[in-house]
Amino acid sequence: MKKILTMMGTRPEIIKLSPLIPLLRERFAHVLVHSGQHYSQEMDAVFFEDLGLPQPNYSLNVGSASHGEQTARMLSRLEPILLAEKPAAVLVQGDTNTTMAGGLGAAKLGIPVVHLEAGGRSFNRAMPEELNRVIVDHLSALLLAADEIAERNLRAEGLPSAAIRTIGSSAIDAVLRNREFAERSKVLETLDLDAGRYLALTLHRAENTTPDVLPGMVRALNELANDHVIAFPLHPRTAAALAQQGLSLSARIRTCEPLGYLDMLKLVANARALLTDSGGLQEEAAVLGTPGLIIRNETEWRYLVDAGVNVLVGNSYDDMITNVRTWLQPEPLARLRNAVAPIRPGASERAVAAIAELVGS
Ligand code: UD1
Repeated sequence: MKKILTMMGTRPEIIKLSPLIPLLRERFAHVLVHSGQHYSQEMDAVFFEDLGLPQPNYSLNVGSASHGEQTARMLSRLEPILLAEKPAAVLVQGDTNTTMAGGLGAAKLGIPVVHLEAGGRSFNRAMPEELNRVIVDHLSALLLAADEIAERNLRAEGLPSAAIRTIGSSAIDAVLRNREFAERSKVLETLDLDAGRYLALTLHRAENTTPDVLPGMVRALNELANDHVIAFPLHPRTAAALAQQGLSLSARIRTCEPLGYLDMLKLVANARALLTDSGGLQEEAAVLGTPGLIIRNETEWRYLVDAGVNVLVGNSYDDMITNVRTWLQPEPLARLRNAVAPIRPGASERAVAAIAELVGS
């Protein structure tokens, strides 16, 4: 039996790899490595519980640090494991420092890299995620693209067609498998929310938490909160940035600790709309039929904007106030809600079949 090693370490990777892991365990000898980039109960352990995942075979325990330090720790701790385990391929997902370290560590040892969610591009090189994606794509032997736009991006960078498979997104499989369990979540009662009568908000991107951007966003959100109930699970990066910059949120914004996967699905499914800068949530909202107002100027999930289920509202005070108010009017909101999301289930099965083909099993 061929051996596949999967490296993960943050909340979105755990979620998007979750539907593949049981399939990989059926078909291969599977080794799971956790970098420890996310390490707390709310950012990590709860997802293993909610998604019924096996505990990792190795934990690198890198914790928080600057980008260089965090990535360096991952590389030096991963290398001996790769040398000992000798996998036929290493699977990484997405665009985090963990993704980059897993891809670089394996490629340097001549181990084929498989990149799930290859070809996503914001074309904004100021984002650490964009740098991570580009590097990993150019190191990978198998590029698993979510959609035709991602496929086109890979081709435009000269990556070989033979290495590209366009398979859809495993985030969609994860929602479809778990939405029924999410109905049992008591998060609306806990946060005292009425279904359909609040906005769900998440905000954590590095480029949105800087002192030149965050104050304007907070001002816009505080004003929007005069007209809307807003539920806001706070990412630790954002909580720290708010405190450091001396910013306070309106008392009408209901903040809480980061939510588990099932609670988050329930919160988004019942929201009037989702305001987010998260990548994963843009797809999750589309599956759940909740309009997504993306508080960024560009998105790697362009296909959902093109389909009319999500819309970019920008991240400055002026853009947010104008665009969010416009899109929350009944008629534009109904247009977003009624647009058909181009959802393509089965990405996880297609990914595992392509990996089997790559390693010849
Ligand atoms: C990372 C990814 C981003 C992804 C996001 C999801 C990179 C470059 N970015 O960003 O693409 O969307 O994860 O959350 O890899 N912290 C905790 N508890 C934890 C983990 C982190 O308190 O379990 C704190 C850390 O102290 C740190 C901050 O959160 O200060 C940010 O964590 P970090 O892993 O650096 O990046 P994210 O912002 O989570």
